[in-house]
Amino acid sequence: MDKYIIDGGEKLYGKVRVQGAKNTVLPLLAASVLTDEQVKIRGVPTIADAENMLRILTEVGCKIRRQKDCTVIDSSNAVSHEIPPRLTKELRSSVFMLGSVLTRFRRAKISYPGGCDIGLRPIDLHLSGLKKLGVEIIEEGGYIECKADKLVGAEILLDFPSVGATENIILAAVKAQGVTVIRNAAKEPEIVDLQNFLCAMGAKVCGAGGGTVVVEGVKRLHGVEYTPIGDRIEAGTYLVATASCGGEIETEGVPPENIAALLHKLRENGCKIHTKNDKIVLSSSGRLLAVDLVETMPFPGFPTDLQAQYSALCATAKGTTLVVENLFETRYKYAAELKRMGADITVRGRTAVIRGVEKLHGARVTAGDLRGGAALVVAALKAEGRSDVVDLSHIDRGYAEFEYKLKKLGAKIRRVRI
Ligand code: UD1
Repeated sequence: MDKYIIDGGEKLYGKVRVQGAKNTVLPLLAASVLTDEQVKIRGVPTIADAENMLRILTEVGCKIRRQKDCTVIDSSNAVSHEIPPRLTKELRSSVFMLGSVLTRFRRAKISYPGGCDIGLRPIDLHLSGLKKLGVEIIEEGGYIECKADKLVGAEILLDFPSVGATENIILAAVKAQGVTVIRNAAKEPEIVDLQNFLCAMGAKVCGAGGGTVVVEGVKRLHGVEYTPIGDRIEAGTYLVATASCGGEIETEGVPPENIAALLHKLRENGCKIHTKNDKIVLSSSGRLLAVDLVETMPFPGFPTDLQAQYSALCATAKGTTLVVENLFETRYKYAAELKRMGADITVRGRTAVIRGVEKLHGARVTAGDLRGGAALVVAALKAEGRSDVVDLSHIDRGYAEFEYKLKKLGAKIRRVRI
C-alpha cells in the first residue's frame, strides 16, 4: 500500500494540462466493441479505472496496443459476451459494457458492478431502458443476463437524468432498428463527447447536452481516431486546491462552461478567475470567505464529484457553509478524516454544516474513496505541518500523476510505500 506524505502550507503556482476525462474515456472504451474496425483513443489517462476497463476489453477478446499517445482497440476477434465478476467488482463503469456488448453479440452477462462506496447505486434505470429496446433481462445469483434477438428503437423517459443510464441506452440504441428517443437524459459534457465519438464512427445521434437524445439506428459503425474532452473534475480539483492554499494556477484542456458551477462558487469565495477558450486562470490569496450554500445537482449544477474537494476548502473559509449532497447517500465519509485535521463539520444525512476554522493541522488520514481521497489531499496541502494520506488505491482510480502535477505547482508531497 502507498501513502502520500504532505508538508502543508505552500501556495501553488503554475500550469496544469488536464488528462482525458475519466468519465468519457470509460464509456468510449466500452463503445469500442461496437465496431470490428480499429478504434484509436488519444490521451487515455494512466488511471486504474481505465486500466481495468482495458482488462475487461481484453477478457472479451479485444486486442489492445499502445501507439505513442494512442490506445488502439481491435475488437475484430471479440468473442465473449460475459464480463468476469472479478473485474466488474473493481469498476462500476463495467456496466456500460452491457449496452455495447448487447449491440455486438445480442446478449450480455455481467455481475453487479462495483466502484466507489458512496451509497446505493442501483441500475434500475439502465435495465428498464434496455427492456424498452426489446431486451429480455434475467437477474439471478448476482448476475444480470441480457438477451435480445433484435434491438428495436423506443421512446424512453428516464425518471432521473442518470449519466450511466443515458450512456448505456445510447450504446444499445446505435445499431437498433428505428429511432430511440431518450427524454430527461443526462446533460453532462461527457454525454456530448460520447455522442461526438459515436457520430465519428458513423452513428446517428443528436441532442446530447440538451436533455433529449435522439438515436437513429444504423447498420454498421466504422473505426475512428478520437481525442476525448479534458477532465473537468481533475481541473476542478487543482483549482480548488489552489483557491484554498492561495497562489495562481492555469488549467488547460477544460472549457469554463464545463465547470461553471464551481467557478461561480470560487468567485463568491473571493478568488479571481479569468477564462479564455479552454484555459482557466485562478488566483487566490488563500483567505477565503465561505458561501452560504452548495448543493450538488445534475449538470449544469454543482458536480457531486467535486463536493468533497470543495468541502475541504470550506473547512478553512471564513464563515459557515451548508453543503447538500443530492446525488449519493453516503458521500461524506471523508468528513471524519477532515475532523482529525481540526475541521469543524457536522453531517446529518445528505447535509453537512462546515464551520470554517482558522487553520487545519497535519494528521494521519485514510482515503476511503476517490473524491474523498482527493479532498484529504486538498486539506493536507493547506494544513499546518505534516499529513500522511494513507491508501492511495482509490485516488489512483481517477488521478494520473497526481503527486507529480502537484509537485510541479510547488506542493511538498511525496509518495512512499508502506
Ligand atoms: C456518473 C459518474 C460519476 C458521477 C455521477 C453523477 C461515470 C463513470 N461516473 O456515475 O463520477 O458521480 O455520474 O454525476 O461517468 N440512479 C438510480 N438508478 C439507476 C442509475 C442511477 O437510481 O439506474 C441514481 C443513483 O443512485 C444516483 C443518481 O441516480 O443517486 C445519479 O447516478 P448516475 O447519474 O447514474 O451516476 P453514474 O452514471 O453512476
